[in-house]
Amino acid sequence: MTFIIAIDGPAAAGKGTLARRIAETYGFHHLDTGLTYRATARALLEAGLPLDDEAVAERMAQAVDLSGLDRAVLAQHHIGEAASRIAVMPAVRCALVEAQRRFSARSPGTVLDGRDIGTVVCPQAPVKLYVTASPDVRARRRHDEVIASGGVADYQTILADVKKRDDRDMGRADSPLKPADDAHLLDTSEMSIEAAFQAAKTIIDAAL
Ligand code: C5P
Repeated sequence: MTFIIAIDGPAAAGKGTLARRIAETYGFHHLDTGLTYRATARALLEAGLPLDDEAVAERMAQAVDLSGLDRAVLAQHHIGEAASRIAVMPAVRCALVEAQRRFSARSPGTVLDGRDIGTVVCPQAPVKLYVTASPDVRARRRHDEVIASGGVADYQTILADVKKRDDRDMGRADSPLKPADDAHLLDTSEMSIEAAFQAAKTIIDAAL
């Protein structure tokens, strides 16, 4: 049987780094489900199609190829913004959740990270982690990443953006971001990624 690890949390909480490290450690397949929303949004933008037509967005979501998700291309800020707008549409979510569920069944195990993995996509997952950090800490981390990669960043703008994304993800009617009842909470505000990984490993090893 496939072993599924579900990781949810708000933007820039460190769940992507954690998910990759866990997948590597256990030899599991990893899917960053945010990339599926981003790929759908990018396809709409590239085709010059509107972001507010649910039927059009649904067709784009159905055509997303999970093997062709390129993080480098999809990381751009305007794509993330568009992704969070189309992510409120139930038909888009339904199409992407179906693809994510198919991925989650891969053997011997999978790690999926996103917003609704433990609550909607894989509620049967034996390990659910909810990774969070204060908005200030998340904005600071994102700011430092941009600066470290040679970019220009304004902390206040990033903080406002983090809060706006949280409001949209937590406030939407369909699959809002929230911890599953049986999720383990990992607050990384004052924790290094190494400490978060060790805490996650202890939880996973106990469930394996
Ligand atoms: O995590 P990332 O920033 O790449 O996700 C982009 C957007 O996709 C999020 O802001 C969120 O609105 C949406 N998303 C979602 N459900 C997921 C993963 C991402 O609604 N499982």
